[in-house]
Amino acid sequence: MPLARVLSCALIGLDGELIEVEVDVSRGQVSFTVVGLGDTAVQEARERIRSAIKNSGAQFPFNRKITVNLAPADLRKEGPGYDLPMAVGILVASEQLVADLDRAVFIGELSLDGRVRHTHGVLPMVAVARDHGATRVFVPEDDASEAALVDDIEVVPVHDLAQLIEHFSGRQQIEAFDRSTAPQNGSQAGTQALDFSYIKGQEHVKRALEVAAAGGHNVLMMGPPGAGKTLLARAMPSILPAMANDEALEITKIYSIAGLLPSETPLVRERPFRAPHHTISHAGLVGGGRVPRPGEITLSHRGVLFLDELPEFGHAVLEVLRQPLEDRLVTISRAQGTLTFPANFMLVSAMNPCPCGYFGDSGRQCTCSDGTVARYQKRISGPLLDRIDIFVEVPRIDFEKLSAIEDAEGSQQVRGRVEAARSLQTTRFSDNGLTCNAEMTPVEVREFCQSQLDDGAQSLLRLAMNQLSFSARSFHRILKLSRTIADLDASSGIESRHLAEALQYRQRHLTA
Ligand SMILES: Nc1ncnc2c1ncn2[C@@H]1O[C@H](COP(=O)(O)OP(=O)(O)O)[C@@H](O)[C@H]1O
Ligand SMILES: [Mg+2]
Repeated sequence: MPLARVLSCALIGLDGELIEVEVDVSRGQVSFTVVGLGDTAVQEARERIRSAIKNSGAQFPFNRKITVNLAPADLRKEGPGYDLPMAVGILVASEQLVADLDRAVFIGELSLDGRVRHTHGVLPMVAVARDHGATRVFVPEDDASEAALVDDIEVVPVHDLAQLIEHFSGRQQIEAFDRSTAPQNGSQAGTQALDFSYIKGQEHVKRALEVAAAGGHNVLMMGPPGAGKTLLARAMPSILPAMANDEALEITKIYSIAGLLPSETPLVRERPFRAPHHTISHAGLVGGGRVPRPGEITLSHRGVLFLDELPEFGHAVLEVLRQPLEDRLVTISRAQGTLTFPANFMLVSAMNPCPCGYFGDSGRQCTCSDGTVARYQKRISGPLLDRIDIFVEVPRIDFEKLSAIEDAEGSQQVRGRVEAARSLQTTRFSDNGLTCNAEMTPVEVREFCQSQLDDGAQSLLRLAMNQLSFSARSFHRILKLSRTIADLDASSGIESRHLAEALQYRQRHLTA
């Protein structure tokens, strides 16, 4: 009997490799052995494949010795996506199917009745397959429009194993997915988000959020309950710059692995906005699991991670943010080695100034002791605060004032300015591989900020350094922010008014 070789694909983070599924069916002691997969996964795969083949009008070779090898052996292979290639291999090796498998890749989980089920991670797997020279890919029907986001590869949607058998026998060909009919639009950026015009007053906070969006800076808003912090944060998506096509595809890959793509319009066009609850687990935030899934910080990649009521998040949870905030990716260690996911997000956070919420409020007495206030604010560790560029106070506005204020500027106009500032940054960093000002390292700060300060800004900076005793980190932070503020002003030089605004956003301790 022939040895069958069927190609599939394994993912390592967002990348991957082609897997060769070798199947040998021979006489000998009756068995079904799979080498190269994790224990539980093998057990489950064998059950599904046995039953799926039986229920597809084919014969499962029960009285034979079946050996399946997934090569390369040292590569981690997880998840149920290997069911389909293994089943095809068994049918070929047992001479029930004659198929031209050259440069064809198979991806899909089988259900017991032979249906090919929706499988997570189809988009990144198809991209890997294409990059490794595959010309055809057989995927679950549900995931075909997702697979079709990858160019230059034929996508064959498979409903069930029986249909695939008919296809290869020549009795009933499956038509390749027609890209021209595929709805590729996805949802347009910012369509569902709350509009800035809905939020009355708070002009200085909106300005701070505009600066944050323009340069990709991390923000902390502080103010009493009901001041509108959550509202303001939720309006952020409406002013974020639109995504480039390669960014959209990158985000879509992440959401594919997480199983969060709608099947009809799979392409994610809107920048992510994630707002996990403070009870979130470590794995939920950073990612992990037997079949590794991206966590919230990766789901926020190229978008916003919103942590509301920041001090309520556990100390350990906040500490794990440090490394990704610095490196813009997250490393997950696992039994079989480590894995990285991208995590280049903008942190938007909000907190009350004290447990009762009214410390520093003009209209209401705070009932907390000085010690309680200090302890509350210390829940956010120095190293985390060090990675926040913009601190902004959000005062409460009276209801009468709220109703009297006229409609504010809409998000579309704000976003227009944000995008103009971003396009200056795209040009600036075209050789550096950065996307926005917040990502500058000290080298770029010297090149693009320090050297651009005019005389007035130079002397203001010197004065501020002396009087406010800045650390090196705060110094860089102020310069990066000034760069963004100058970009919003379409100014190539950084003037003292740009620097002065940046200084407004530094952290100020409310406690005595
Ligand atoms: N500036 C504002 N403009 C319009 N509505 C506001 C404003 N500030 C607060 N609100 C209203 O008050 C409610 C409470 O605001 P919220 O954002 O939850 O406050 P916080 O998060 O600071 O406690 C909001 O749902 C909103 O309806
Ligand atoms: Mg709130």
